[in-house]
Amino acid sequence: MVDCWRTLQELGPFGSDAFPWMAQETEALRATLARWCGVPPQRLALTENVTSGCVLPLWGLPFQPGERLLLSDAEHPGVVAAITELARRQGLAIDRFPVQRARTGAAVLEALEEHLQPGTRLVALSHLLWNTGLPMPIEAVADRLSSHPLQPWLLVDAAQAMGSLALGAVPDRADIYAFTGHKWCCGPEGLGGVVLSQRLLDAGSPTLIGWRSLADEGQGSSPWQPDARRFEVATSCLPLGAGLRASLAELELCGTDGEREALIGQRSRRLWEGLCAHPALEPLLQEAPPASGLVSFTAPGHDPQQLVRALARRGLHLRVLADPPCLRACTHVVTTDEEIDTLLTQLDALLATGQTT
Ligand SMILES: Cc1ncc(COP(=O)(O)O)c(C=O)c1O
Repeated sequence: MVDCWRTLQELGPFGSDAFPWMAQETEALRATLARWCGVPPQRLALTENVTSGCVLPLWGLPFQPGERLLLSDAEHPGVVAAITELARRQGLAIDRFPVQRARTGAAVLEALEEHLQPGTRLVALSHLLWNTGLPMPIEAVADRLSSHPLQPWLLVDAAQAMGSLALGAVPDRADIYAFTGHKWCCGPEGLGGVVLSQRLLDAGSPTLIGWRSLADEGQGSSPWQPDARRFEVATSCLPLGAGLRASLAELELCGTDGEREALIGQRSRRLWEGLCAHPALEPLLQEAPPASGLVSFTAPGHDPQQLVRALARRGLHLRVLADPPCLRACTHVVTTDEEIDTLLTQLDALLATGQTT
């Protein structure tokens, strides 16, 4: 990132050599992210984060008053708020379908089936639930929606999936597949991306508009970029892209996406087994270890906030989730067995002594 910034200063940020170099850097990043998502670069827009990747294309979709938006009960509050406000402004109805307690893809599809209505125009479902860590059957959902008379748009929040799961064809099957570089990709904050379907590019309008949304500075027959770039806005921080490309290259050194997913799963299983074996700890997923690196659990009778604070003082950083109330640990490819065992030992000591302050 520092090298990128230095080159920019040496070229002169507004110098005539800078612009082609910046365009080259940006397109290299787009190509890398598109390769990770298994889609052509023309369908990938660069964003700042997951939320803007969900919201910018969503707000440009053509809805009719009275149409319905169907959200899972495990979507992130920021995305839910944006969808709720869109519904209020455009006279749309909101429905919810329960996935948080579903434990299989079949149960998720059953819940979807029960809540899909003839007027459903959009379904929002995360690829990997941020609370339970369960992967959602996005391809099967896409198949189901394609036989619905309105062929509802499929919005997929991939905040927890990009960089942790082997994505396969999933990004290609969604209309909006939004992710960030700063979570499982281990990149810097402030840079993300969104994969858009061709039908969304054909039907959707840009929402937050700036010079990057324009082709030929708006002088052509259509002002907009012919591809996903029409959802990009204006100047952003180029060194973030260098950082993200470097972190993705580091991750690729750890193995293929399938190998990384398996490594993450080995580590989360070790933690999950330790939690299961402890009489005072209860993993949210009781039946089988998480398929991802998100490991959520409760410590009945103990305040989760206090527990998280006490663990942080010992160098172990977990977080509290409100719905369902629990603690969540993340294991990535860099997490060591020793770290997992230390977490289990520290949890045991804290619960035994009650010293969570
Ligand atoms: C599932 C999910 N969606 C969205 C977000 C928000 O991410 P961002 O700040 O990149 O928009 C998060 C952050 O934790 C998340 O877990």
